[in-house]
Amino acid sequence: MTAFLSVRDLSVRFATEDGVVRAVDGLSFDVERGRTLGIVGESGSGKSVTNLSVLGLHDRRTTEIEGRILLDGQDLTTAPESVLEKLRGNRMAMIFQDSLTALSPYYTVGRQIAEPFRKHTGASRREARLRAVEMLEKVGIPNAALRVDDYPHQFSGGMRQRAMIAMALVCDPELLIADEPTTALDVTVQAQILDLLKDLQQQTGSAIVLITHDLGVVAGTADDVLVMYAGRAVERGTAREVLRSPRHPYTWGLLGSMARLTSPVDEPLTPIPGSPPSLLDPPPGCPFHPRCAYVARVGGDRCRTERPELPEGRGAACHLPDGAGKGRTR
Ligand SMILES: Nc1ncnc2c1ncn2[C@@H]1O[C@H](COP(=O)(O)OP(=O)(O)OP(=O)(O)O)[C@@H](O)[C@H]1O
Ligand code: SF4
Ligand SMILES: [Mg+2]
Repeated sequence: MTAFLSVRDLSVRFATEDGVVRAVDGLSFDVERGRTLGIVGESGSGKSVTNLSVLGLHDRRTTEIEGRILLDGQDLTTAPESVLEKLRGNRMAMIFQDSLTALSPYYTVGRQIAEPFRKHTGASRREARLRAVEMLEKVGIPNAALRVDDYPHQFSGGMRQRAMIAMALVCDPELLIADEPTTALDVTVQAQILDLLKDLQQQTGSAIVLITHDLGVVAGTADDVLVMYAGRAVERGTAREVLRSPRHPYTWGLLGSMARLTSPVDEPLTPIPGSPPSLLDPPPGCPFHPRCAYVARVGGDRCRTERPELPEGRGAACHLPDGAGKGRTR
């Protein structure tokens, strides 16, 4: 049985003036209905590119996508744009990192929430408007019945982010991709939004992919975790496994940068000395080797020449023997 969302061996390459950017390289993961997968990794690790691929939002002229993306058994990589358009906003929806790019300045907030609902459910204008007000209330916009007629520029940044969440949730999507949905919001609103996502999941059994820099959010919200580095998955497991007994040196670094597991960390992760490699010319062997403190422990040239693979299920893409991280268990 394939999972509700099953991504297999996904590679995404962009043709640019400087050469080919290998943004995602051989990535596989599954998300079941009713479960939340947290995707974590430093800036530029390929989190957004991966999920834009799932929604079919890359420019097909400059993007080369290989591998399979199955939603409920249907391959999205080969689906025509008309099919993807029907799925987006209805069966799958995304909350974008940047609310300004996702909302049109020319239409009222209410209309932008109501339109997809009308389109996908055939509701009347009046019903759709009521639904928009209801959604704005749900995401905590005060005076929703009045604010529904505002334009995005009349909303604050935090309110726009919430409006976008309302837009994504209006059709009760079966797959919701939330890309840093709460980063711009204050802690109280963050908690409200995460609760809202959980409520949605309980009511509709939706699958959620939650992209975040904030390991506190992962600890509180995700069932499973995928750690990404330089376009590849380097560790996967349940949230408990990954947070409590991480196996990859990169994950050790990420967790080491976290003051306390339960406290929200708003800052981007800068855990480990050095910076991620250029994706125009990724290093051979393990992509993490230029920054890794354990190369000598593995010995020889292995880390520099032999690429470690991530096994299916619980595991890490690293040549260190399992258990080498003993003593690091949190
Ligand atoms: N359209 C594009 N053309 C060329 N390169 C791109 C394009 N989109 C993304 N990239 C590159 O792909 C890599 C992965 O980007 P991505 O946006 O997925 O990172 P991310 O993990 O979401 O980072 P952040 O945490 O900062 O959002 C980056 O090096 C980025 O510069
Ligand atoms: S394979 Fe080698 S370089 Fe890569 S994370 Fe493991 S020890 Fe570090
Ligand atoms: Mg991103």
